[in-house]
Amino acid sequence: MFDHRDLARLQAQSLKMQGWIRQQTYSPDLEKSLRRFSSWEVAELIFKVNQSTLRGRLAADPSLPQGLVEPEGRQRWYSLDEINELRRRLKVNRKSLMPMRPAGARALRAAIANFKGGAGKSTVALHFAHAAALDGYRVLAVDFDPQATLSHSMGLSDVAEEYTVWGIMARDLIQETERTNAVPRGAESGTALPHRELPNAITDMGLADLRPADFIKPTCWPTIDLIPSCANAAFVEFASAQYRHLNPEWSFFAAVDRYLDAIPAEAYDFILFDCPPAIGYQSMNAVFAADMLYIPSGPGYWEYDSTTSFIGQLSEALEDLNRIQNVPAGTVTLPKRFRDVRFLLTRFEPNNALHRAMYTAFQKVFGDRVCTNQIEMTRAVEQSGRFLSSIYEIDYRDMTRETWRRARLTFDGAYEEFRDNAVSVWSELEAAA
Ligand SMILES: Nc1ncnc2c1ncn2[C@@H]1O[C@H](COP(=O)(O)OP(=O)(O)O)[C@@H](O)[C@H]1O
Ligand SMILES: [Mg+2]
Repeated sequence: MFDHRDLARLQAQSLKMQGWIRQQTYSPDLEKSLRRFSSWEVAELIFKVNQSTLRGRLAADPSLPQGLVEPEGRQRWYSLDEINELRRRLKVNRKSLMPMRPAGARALRAAIANFKGGAGKSTVALHFAHAAALDGYRVLAVDFDPQATLSHSMGLSDVAEEYTVWGIMARDLIQETERTNAVPRGAESGTALPHRELPNAITDMGLADLRPADFIKPTCWPTIDLIPSCANAAFVEFASAQYRHLNPEWSFFAAVDRYLDAIPAEAYDFILFDCPPAIGYQSMNAVFAADMLYIPSGPGYWEYDSTTSFIGQLSEALEDLNRIQNVPAGTVTLPKRFRDVRFLLTRFEPNNALHRAMYTAFQKVFGDRVCTNQIEMTRAVEQSGRFLSSIYEIDYRDMTRETWRRARLTFDGAYEEFRDNAVSVWSELEAAA
């Protein structure tokens, strides 16, 4: 027979192992660090110019960052900061190397969501974040999943639950309750919202004093920040139900949307949400704050099935929001509208007839909502999963160059399509801003 104490003992054993795995996979000081990128990568894969062109430009201007030369090699190796300085200072064929971004618009927000665990959500979020950073964009990633895969992959493992999406939601509950309590009552305002008291257990947590920036953590990528999650945040779903009961007028689903609105518009270019494998308070916040909905799905029949039921249930959950009573006027806009919705096949094997048939089926059913580029199944990422790294973080000298290149190409293709989709709706945000 086993009771909670046995489970606690098993967990304690497992925590010891976790510590050991982290020691093996991170650099000696237990911190994840970002490698340098070779002149080959900078020229051909990042700036998309000839290696000789880049070499010539660097030779002509010694004030440009010159990278580090490896001990027995000819390549120079550049940090991401150096790459970004080159990007700002160089023009090739009179063209800027800076990425396209509508001036004045706020960051574009994309939720990567599906029901199924293992659909590839966290892998897609991690690779899009890294690809966008190498493309010159500033990224904020938000981990909505208490399994915290994205947070661990980005090197954040010791996170207090106040600084997760749960903290943002509880802070919003306090602020929104104060706000509606302050609305004038009676005939002249036309509202009759009851006064709501929150228990001290919530108001005394000090969350109301936190500023938006307090939730944002730097990562080892200088242009990627993260709002992390942690296993302790798993109680959010339970707590949120309780909070709604305390203040039924609280538009719980708009907490993160309001939070992000308070971040300066030009602080980031992309805000990417990694969603939990369920429809609940956290994923509704992600979806409600998103301009784009990106739905990754495996290429099997069951995954197609589960993706179908995901959009059905999401549709119902979004429709339900319209029925919430007494939300104070002007605080949220309903119904929720996305500027774009896309399906992205992951773990795709081009030589697998079933996978090809499933892609055709996805296209028949979802038409041009299906991404043209699938993300292929790759051994490089299976391995990198264990090492908590993306294909962009893995040094190509650590594996067969062809395996690395192929894996990188498949993620590049999916990212570039994502970026182009994003850029085409971004200007609409510009107009709205
Ligand atoms: N393109 C891919 N090729 C190989 N393995 C992949 C690929 N995408 C995801 N995986 C693996 O599948 C597993 C689940 O992926 P993950 O992104 O964590 O899914 P989710 O976040 O939807 O639960 C992980 O072990 C990951 O390494
Ligand atoms: Mg995940």
